[in-house]
Amino acid sequence: MIAIACDHGGIDLKEATIEVLNELGLEYMDFGTDSHASCDYPVFGARAAKAVASGECEKGIILCGTGVGIGIAANKVKGIRCVICTDTFSARMSRLHNNANMIALGSRVLGSELCKEILRTWLTTDFSYDERHMRRVQMIMDIEAGKDVE
Ligand code: RB5
Repeated sequence: MIAIACDHGGIDLKEATIEVLNELGLEYMDFGTDSHASCDYPVFGARAAKAVASGECEKGIILCGTGVGIGIAANKVKGIRCVICTDTFSARMSRLHNNANMIALGSRVLGSELCKEILRTWLTTDFSYDERHMRRVQMIMDIEAGKDVE
């Protein structure tokens, strides 16, 4: 199950996002928004992020004008590693090396075809489970828990 959410600035990529999820046969839960009416991106970023952090959803895709605001908001939820992404290389590496569990994209930055390629790449790439990458991801979680990683 994939969580999706956006604000009014990201809604123009929602259709492309759903197309990719359908293409890959992935089920999704839509946490809004549903219109171009101005709204606050942290509300929607947090809704999707909480669904991922709780385990209700395996991954999350969030959209705003740039991907930046909603991505920063999602990263404030414990357990979330959200990549704010504009290219397929970063999308792939964020899964392989960082085990990113959310991706944030901007509809004022990306066209729908690049958005779809990024999402195909991100959704079909697994974490490497390499020892050094597992250690580093654990260190990220340790920082979140207030531990010293020096
Ligand atoms: C909304 O105008 C815009 O600020 C928002 O979609 C996003 O780009 C914030 O980072």
